[in-house]
Amino acid sequence: MIKFLDLQRINQRHEAEFKEALAGVLDSGWYIRGRQLSAFESEFAKYCGVPHAIGTGNGLDALILILKAWMQAGKIEAGDEVLVPANTYIASILSISACGLVPVPVEPDPQTCNIDPGRLQAAMGRRTRVLMAVHLYGQLADMKRLSAFAKEKGLLLLEDAAQAHGARDAKGRRAGSFGDAAAFSFYPGKNLGALGDGGAVVTPDAELARLVRALGNYGSEKKYVHGMKGINSRLDELQAAFLRIKLRSLDADNERRREIARQYLEGIHHPELQLPHWDGSSAHVFHLFVIRHPARDKLAAHLRKKGVETAIHYPLPPHRQGAYREWNERKFPLTEAIHREVLSLPIHPLLQEEEIRFIIQSINQFP
Ligand SMILES: Cc1ncc(COP(=O)(O)O)c(C=O)c1O
Repeated sequence: MIKFLDLQRINQRHEAEFKEALAGVLDSGWYIRGRQLSAFESEFAKYCGVPHAIGTGNGLDALILILKAWMQAGKIEAGDEVLVPANTYIASILSISACGLVPVPVEPDPQTCNIDPGRLQAAMGRRTRVLMAVHLYGQLADMKRLSAFAKEKGLLLLEDAAQAHGARDAKGRRAGSFGDAAAFSFYPGKNLGALGDGGAVVTPDAELARLVRALGNYGSEKKYVHGMKGINSRLDELQAAFLRIKLRSLDADNERRREIARQYLEGIHHPELQLPHWDGSSAHVFHLFVIRHPARDKLAAHLRKKGVETAIHYPLPPHRQGAYREWNERKFPLTEAIHREVLSLPIHPLLQEEEIRFIIQSINQFP
């Protein structure tokens, strides 16, 4: 079976370095908020081209901490509205609800599956304060138009970059460097994945960085002094040490993902199948290679029979989930069509040439 994601292969490459890192942390006797975290934070901030990075427990917490910090700073308050793509992983939307803010879902551009900047104006309300851009599947959202809109309307711009580590625009600006703040996830399957949960906030705003750091540490900047109602959400020393090692190969891994995408785009020929839109640039890091087919389930079954594992991102849109019962009757036809038809092919950087050829051949043989 060709696995959809072979984490063992991906991480085995670093086994010797991981063991050394583990020994280093063991020797240090220091597991939380130590030297590894500080080093990772400065290396990741530099990589993203942003002055500040703060490690968090996971990507969802990174989003929540940004919103909480803006509330703490008095920039937004409970009941304010946040524009967010209707077509995203539910965590983007959960972070808004978790802070007592109101998510306002906006339909995607059907070509990129990212939020459609042309639909933002109609979604604006009296209390709209934040625009959340999500770089879905690893492709930068249209940051030029989204930044211009946020600026014109005085909105805070938040990037959910959980799927887009390293994506960069034509000027070399990386995901995470466009907004007032950005959230990353280091969930193991991400392009930069830890050996457990992890996340980070990056921001150009020193005051926001201070608040996020304190809020993720029980609202404390000095031991046992709690100036804010915080939570506990930190990136531990071991994960930080592992991530430092993997950060060094992120660009090469992303390039390999693009190379596999190139081969898929050139090799797959099927009349009813829609391939992902890509301009060929580094603005896409192909966290996922998502194709669309009206008979998606049959295609997935055909590939499974051939020995190719696929995945669906995602089977049910957020507005159809039990968590958002209040939206269940609302219609988001573009989002719904995407969820009905999408299928993700294996695209991890350790996929072998013969596996890629076999996957292409198997799809082209689909009746
Ligand atoms: C777009 C998006 N946002 C947020 C998250 C949440 O990240 P985490 O799983 O680290 O909490 C994820 C990943 O799971 C994601 O894909």
